[in-house]
Amino acid sequence: MSDTQAKKGEEVRVRIWDLPVRLFHWVMVALFAFSWWTAENDHLDWHFLSGYAILGLLLFRVYWGVVGSTTARFASFVKGPRALLSYARQLLARPGKISLGHNPMGGWSVLAMLLLLLTQVGLGLFAIDVDGVEGGPLSNLVSFETARRMSSLHGLLFNILLIVVGLHVAAILFYLFYKRENLIVAMLNGRKRVAGDVAQEMRFVSLWWALPGLAVACLLVLWVVYGHF
Ligand code: HEM
Repeated sequence: MSDTQAKKGEEVRVRIWDLPVRLFHWVMVALFAFSWWTAENDHLDWHFLSGYAILGLLLFRVYWGVVGSTTARFASFVKGPRALLSYARQLLARPGKISLGHNPMGGWSVLAMLLLLLTQVGLGLFAIDVDGVEGGPLSNLVSFETARRMSSLHGLLFNILLIVVGLHVAAILFYLFYKRENLIVAMLNGRKRVAGDVAQEMRFVSLWWALPGLAVACLLVLWVVYGHF
């Protein structure tokens, strides 16, 4: 019997996250921390490289959000206001509605995090330091004043991101301790225990589909860093 063919009431372990989503997540966590550390300790060359890697990762995630497995797709987790409100109304219920993938509130927060991270990297590409010596690869496309403004916004948005990521981790802990739902293990091994009647058929895309996305993401990053005029 497959994961998703269990009888009603029976608990089953279903696969919910594919490898690219899990790798994306944990590499992003590491690079986010590394970018912070390199900025704080003036290792700007490493900070730049980390930012380029984050950019590549985000571009890949956008691609995977369109062609990836069911739970990776934006269309499957960005829900309308009705689903959002209905989910929010039962947020404190125990046990709550189990989602296979991001829940309707989580879906919007994921989208917000991805957009904030993209904006953050975008600002970094145009930013320049006070002496005008160390600058992002696109800083020469704008005036020094504009590049300095981008630097300030880059610093401000980082603080906003810290708050957003703090809320993200707090939400995960709320699920763990209050709702007794371990989302962290699911993001590590890709699987979750759910009642058989919650399980549903999901489509997992072959990993080969990740290759064109990775290649295009790398080429775009190389073009942004070296190919502009
Ligand atoms: C140690 C700290 C962290 C933990 C334990 C954690 C845990 C998780 C978990 C469990 C999910 C899946 C939520 C769900 O089931 O809907 C998730 C999703 C996500 N997290 Fe984190 N997270 C952490 C840090 C971060 C950081 C630092 C960032 C960004 C800088 C981040 C960005 C994201 C994003 C973008 C997603 C959506 C993943 C996707 O759909 O591709 N997380 N996180």
